[in-house]
Amino acid sequence: MIRSRILGTGSYAPRKVLSNKELESMIDTTDEWITTRTGIRQRHIASDDEPNSLLAAKAGRNALEMAGLSAEDMDLIIVGTFTPDMPMPSTACLVQAELGAKRAGAFDVVAACSGFLHALAIADKFIKAEPTQKILVIGSEVLSRRTNWSDRSTCVLFGDGAGAVVLAASEEADSGVMSTHLHADGRLWELLTVRGLGTSCMVDEDMLKQGLHYIEMNGREVFKHAVRALESAAMEALEANGWSGEDIDLLVAHQANIRILEFLRERLGLPREKVFINIDKYGNTSAASIPIALDEANRSGVLKPGHKVLMVSFGGGFTWASAAVTW
Ligand code: COA
Repeated sequence: MIRSRILGTGSYAPRKVLSNKELESMIDTTDEWITTRTGIRQRHIASDDEPNSLLAAKAGRNALEMAGLSAEDMDLIIVGTFTPDMPMPSTACLVQAELGAKRAGAFDVVAACSGFLHALAIADKFIKAEPTQKILVIGSEVLSRRTNWSDRSTCVLFGDGAGAVVLAASEEADSGVMSTHLHADGRLWELLTVRGLGTSCMVDEDMLKQGLHYIEMNGREVFKHAVRALESAAMEALEANGWSGEDIDLLVAHQANIRILEFLRERLGLPREKVFINIDKYGNTSAASIPIALDEANRSGVLKPGHKVLMVSFGGGFTWASAAVTW
């Protein structure tokens, strides 16, 4: 049986760090409120000359290096993002050029915070259909450019960064990507959205004045849906693989809020050390959060061959997804 396998991971975060303390001088908030309500202590912010594609390419290069492959070995580059450099071309095409991945096709996937797991699911199916394929899968966001820095209910949450994996076929039946599941409920789109910059409204002064180019979120409602959807995504993945909570060696869930991660940990009956947490350092980096966490877990030696890894995400759309991987 052909399975796809992660050959390398990589990540990149912009050098500039914005701490909760610094936010205290920008808006009416406190380090204590942000830390206890969200678990976030700081976030990375891209500088003006760092577009999404640059972050994505750096993460991609790191993943290729670990995999021992060159950009020219890649058949496909998929980037999960909702903060592209521009509407056209795709960020994936710009990454393809930046890396010199001459043979690779390239496209973006838009599924907000579930973007990376959607991209991973597509890459997994590609490899099963064509086992010679080697695919670079990236989740990358520059959310700071879509953040309303005068809205304290959202601006404390987000950060910039990128993470990547290199996928290729493996004949080992009991390791690699074991399952992927994707879900959406588009009826609830207004609870988490960037209304402007698309074709449903004109880009004009009025639109900019209303701040429609910024992320809008009904935090309380999103929270309720997120916990339910993440739990159901986790249960679906466990059932599909005949795993129980006890079988999981590491839960790598979307880093949106420490309280959501704690809820999920309890529902799955996991001890604290089996839930990977880096929200304190990065905030919510949307599609980049899972691959950054995966890379940190991998490089720090937390992940070991044979480990059962459960990844789950939830985001705007709404979208939610899972991937179960035996490392
Ligand atoms: N600093 C200080 N106070 C703040 C604040 C901030 N940055 N942001 C909001 N508040 C205040 C509110 O004004 C409110 O005050 P009030 O009670 O006087 O009206 C109070 O804190 C509680 O606000 P609420 O929105 O109920 O807080 P919360 O406990 O729900 O936490 C979120 C807010 C955003 C952290 C939380 O709802 C959340 O994490 N939601 C889900 C986020 C998510 O998962 N998003 C992405 C999915 S990909």
